[in-house]
Amino acid sequence: MQKIIEELSARVQADLAKVASSDTLAAFWQEYLSKNGKIPSLMKELRNVAAEERPAAGKIINSFKAQVAADYEAAAQRVKAAELAARNAAEAVDISLPAKTRPMGALHPITLVKNQIIDVFAGMGFSVYDGPEIEDDDHNFTRLNVPKNHPARDMQDTFYLTEELLLRTQTSNGQIRVMDSQRPPIKVLSPGRVFRSDSDATHSPMFHQMEGLVVDKGITLCDLQGMLDCLVQNLFGQDTRTRLRPSYFPFTEPSVEVDVSCFACGGKGCSLCKGTGWIEVLGGGVVNRKVLQNCNIDPDVYSGIAFGIGIERIAMLKYGINNMGLLFENDLRFLKQFQE
Ligand code: DAH
Repeated sequence: MQKIIEELSARVQADLAKVASSDTLAAFWQEYLSKNGKIPSLMKELRNVAAEERPAAGKIINSFKAQVAADYEAAAQRVKAAELAARNAAEAVDISLPAKTRPMGALHPITLVKNQIIDVFAGMGFSVYDGPEIEDDDHNFTRLNVPKNHPARDMQDTFYLTEELLLRTQTSNGQIRVMDSQRPPIKVLSPGRVFRSDSDATHSPMFHQMEGLVVDKGITLCDLQGMLDCLVQNLFGQDTRTRLRPSYFPFTEPSVEVDVSCFACGGKGCSLCKGTGWIEVLGGGVVNRKVLQNCNIDPDVYSGIAFGIGIERIAMLKYGINNMGLLFENDLRFLKQFQE
């Protein structure tokens, strides 16, 4: 028995030395220590040992088994540690390498300005109405107090689709649509694309406007100026002031052109404000009684104010853009400058 064990022990040691992975470790266990492995099988050999020597032989087998089991445990620890180290090395991250950059999208300057304006008015309780871009003559002109053959139609060079249908020239069509479907009090913004046959450095055949309309009891021009003060201070800085100049729009009476104090020079006069200290930014006024009547709102009970803002114009002023075409070319070198 002693001899068998010595031989087996030599093989065990040789195989143990070869154990280098979980697989060879498992094979080793299968070979020597599993239920039918070589070492438990030694017990069967005891049958061939003389009865008086059996207890001693049993003892030897047991202590051999205990030794191999301890060797196996040690090998298992070694393999586990080696495999962990190899895995750590393979998955190591070099945190000093530059990070992979992913291109990020950004909002278009028109969208930025539009959102900013909506934010300001949403704070005053306005909701947003999306009017149609293909509009009929009635909503774009007639009910806004611009009947057929009215000279004011010449103010806007219109793309007609048919005799009655056109591409809206102004978001003011939203005023009529809102007043048709809601009763005062009304506080609504209507942003969107408008179309006019016009094209140069400061005009594009398609551009964006933001219409505002308030109808309630006791609304006056003061309300308009107060709201617009709040808007321009948000857009151009806290020190910005507004100035109203008389103007003409068929749908407002009185009508005003709204200037802001020049945010580049603070009103002293510079090239941006052409030396005047003021920059024209939008049109507005008190809603013409006829427009209220056209929408079945009694002008003796209710009054309103309205305004129309050219979003491109605001974006160009705010960001110092000198050519409107840049806003529509989608040149990434231009657009990337507006990543916020
Ligand atoms: N619709 C006008 C335009 O396109 C802008 C405008 C002026 C809108 C006065 C208004 C307003 O609501 O009251 O030129």
